[in-house]
Amino acid sequence: MAEISLEEAERCNYNRQNQLKAFDETKSGVKGLVDSGLSKVPKIFINQQLKLERNNIQKQEPLTSINGGIPIIDLTRLDEDPDLRRGIVETVGEACEKWGFFQVINHGIPVTTLDAMIDGIRGFHEQENETKKEYYCRDYTRKVNYNSNFDLYWAETTNWRDTLTCVMAPRQPLPQELPIICRDILIEYSNEVMKLGQTLLGLMSEALGLKRGYMEEIGCGEGLFMVGHYYPPCPEPELTLGTSSHTDSGFFTVLLQDQIGGLQVLHQNQWLDVDFIHGALVLNLGDMMQLISNDKFKSVHHRVLTNKRGPRISIASFFRTHLPPENASRLYGPIKELVSEENPPLFRETTIKDFVSSYYSKALDSSTLQYLRL
Ligand code: OGA
Ligand code: NI
Repeated sequence: MAEISLEEAERCNYNRQNQLKAFDETKSGVKGLVDSGLSKVPKIFINQQLKLERNNIQKQEPLTSINGGIPIIDLTRLDEDPDLRRGIVETVGEACEKWGFFQVINHGIPVTTLDAMIDGIRGFHEQENETKKEYYCRDYTRKVNYNSNFDLYWAETTNWRDTLTCVMAPRQPLPQELPIICRDILIEYSNEVMKLGQTLLGLMSEALGLKRGYMEEIGCGEGLFMVGHYYPPCPEPELTLGTSSHTDSGFFTVLLQDQIGGLQVLHQNQWLDVDFIHGALVLNLGDMMQLISNDKFKSVHHRVLTNKRGPRISIASFFRTHLPPENASRLYGPIKELVSEENPPLFRETTIKDFVSSYYSKALDSSTLQYLRL
């Protein structure tokens, strides 16, 4: 193989930086590119690894298995029947240990609210460009931001995705800080998700053999960081990803997706589709949960494929405080009740602030948790 010179490498890199900057300065994201009628994926988005993977797969086996068996958990009458609750706790525990991913149905959030939330995020991304551009920003100390690829300047490849970000808890933005087009539904949906979060933390605490209020008391349900993704249709889906493979950083994530599909989870070294179920919410655990549960609960890699159909809309609600000084000095490590002589702590303690800053200072697909492993 011919070697490339350092000069050439620098030139390529230089071009990439220039192209990223030019893309960023349009303030119109991937949607802007698609609207301009492009028929090929620009180079900055091309993911070589995906190309290789797809080539190999065509020769060997299908890319995914349909309905990969990700657990579906019914929360009906959870608080009315203790026997039923015990059963649900057990299923949740098993899903958290073996999968790190599950879907919940009959969770108490009306389907009309879920549908309206998807419509609200679609509305934000599809509104008049000039209005939307006012939110375009990379200052993450602001509670409300819209941009394409939060890691644009340090990720290896750019993802086919635009995102609206809102930090909704512990202190909600003032209503007027939220985009008018989705203001009411953002507030309504996030209030519902906060309540569901408490329920889920109760179930997860019990599944670890702790009292119901344990994880809530240590602040796992305090912060809510919401992102409304828009994945425009992609002319060459085999060349680029909507979201690169990653684990989430917080305690857990509640994900609402529309019917387009594309979300996949890495289970036993195989990418499985997370099917769309109308009215369901997808739940996945994050790195902080794996840390406090001392590796019992798993934070699992997942990614989003692109599609010629679309756009695809999804809303991820991360349970995690986001901005210092909130929760800045509280230390999190493996929960004391879960460690013993036979079961020593596997991670160092960390503050959310340090954890979040190391999460954002690396590529999306590398692991923050490994740095804390003892
Ligand atoms: C995320 C994420 C999945 C999706 O935002 O962390 O994994 O379906 N999103 O958009
Ligand atoms: Ni994620």
